[in-house]
Amino acid sequence: MSAVTIREPQVLDALRSVMDPDLHRDIVSLGFIRNLVIEGDVVSFDVNLTTPACPVKDRLREQSRQAVLQGVPGVRDVRVTMTAEVRRPQAPDTSALKTVRNIVAVGSGKGGVGKSTVAANIAVGLARTGARVGLLDADIYGPSIPILMRAGRPAEPREHGIEPGEAYGVKLMSMGYLTPGDQPLIWRGPMAHKALQQSLLGVNWGELDYLIVDLPPGTGDVHLTLVQTVPVTGAVIVSTPQDVGLQISMKTLRMFQQTKVPVLGIVENMSTYVCPHCGGRDDLFGHGGARDAATSLGVPFLGEIPLDAAIRRYSDDGRPVILAEPESPSGAAFGAITGRLAQQVSIQAFKHIALTIVEE
Ligand SMILES: Nc1ncnc2c1ncn2[C@@H]1O[C@H](COP(=O)(O)OP(=O)(O)OP(=O)(O)O)[C@@H](O)[C@H]1O
Ligand SMILES: [Mg+2]
Repeated sequence: MSAVTIREPQVLDALRSVMDPDLHRDIVSLGFIRNLVIEGDVVSFDVNLTTPACPVKDRLREQSRQAVLQGVPGVRDVRVTMTAEVRRPQAPDTSALKTVRNIVAVGSGKGGVGKSTVAANIAVGLARTGARVGLLDADIYGPSIPILMRAGRPAEPREHGIEPGEAYGVKLMSMGYLTPGDQPLIWRGPMAHKALQQSLLGVNWGELDYLIVDLPPGTGDVHLTLVQTVPVTGAVIVSTPQDVGLQISMKTLRMFQQTKVPVLGIVENMSTYVCPHCGGRDDLFGHGGARDAATSLGVPFLGEIPLDAAIRRYSDDGRPVILAEPESPSGAAFGAITGRLAQQVSIQAFKHIALTIVEE
């Protein structure tokens, strides 16, 4: 037993030196420290982060440990438990979708750039960290999430709403499920509008930290219905290296900005080509264009995903690459993007609730 008595304010003062790198504040004033217990010369506490997908979790754990170990005399051991609680940006939420903390739209100006692939991998990536995640396919013309996630249809709508499907820990709904049979249907504006509203509000999503919405390409009605129906935390724009020059991303960016949806970042998909035989790399469509565009537009760059046959193969097989091969270059790229996106969502939450943080 140490002769020195360790007091709570000393520990908190030491922890004030630890900064959250995204929120630019110390972890004590952010209210992250929970369950602080001092037993003799052993100090234990939780650091409650804003997302389980936090990429700097291990670094913050070690910094917190060292801050107390070195900053408080008499401490022999520090036990840090990392926990997380995803905050909601809208406070208080009066919308009809109260149980969903963050809605993240994935969009692009052009078709076929990999929105659905990115949406599915991000959703699975977040779920793998322990977050509660839903994925909504809002593309009535070409629903693809049921294939990408090898998901069955949800049960028929009941009196109390539609039960979402589930795959790999992600709750799923596709507007495609509201299409009767295989009949080709001409979805006029009002029909698409109703189908999206029903997919958002008529589904028993339950408590979700993140609901990822896979938008159809372009700028249009579906996007407008989305923002008019529910509060959207932010949007991810998917771009290939060659379309950034065509100003398509710009147009999408402006659409989100005009409807007051923060752009959480740009993802460059089908970036460097990785040869499956020799592992050699080639910039087939150029490389880095989206990063440059993000910088000049002043929005975060979330990362790049290689053009990789394995991504398409796993998608066709109904298993996103982040699940099938998380350690492969493509799986790891999606993992990094998932973490950066979660950070951006947290930043949005703190933009709104920063004023309510009580300074100790
Ligand atoms: N990085 C990649 N490497 C190889 N293939 C990819 C990559 N990203 C997506 N694909 C493949 O490209 C095709 C289009 O991808 P996806 O369906 O995700 O695009 P999308 O933007 O959602 O298309 P749409 O506009 O039709 O909704 C799919 O076959 C997918 O497997
Ligand atoms: Mg798609």
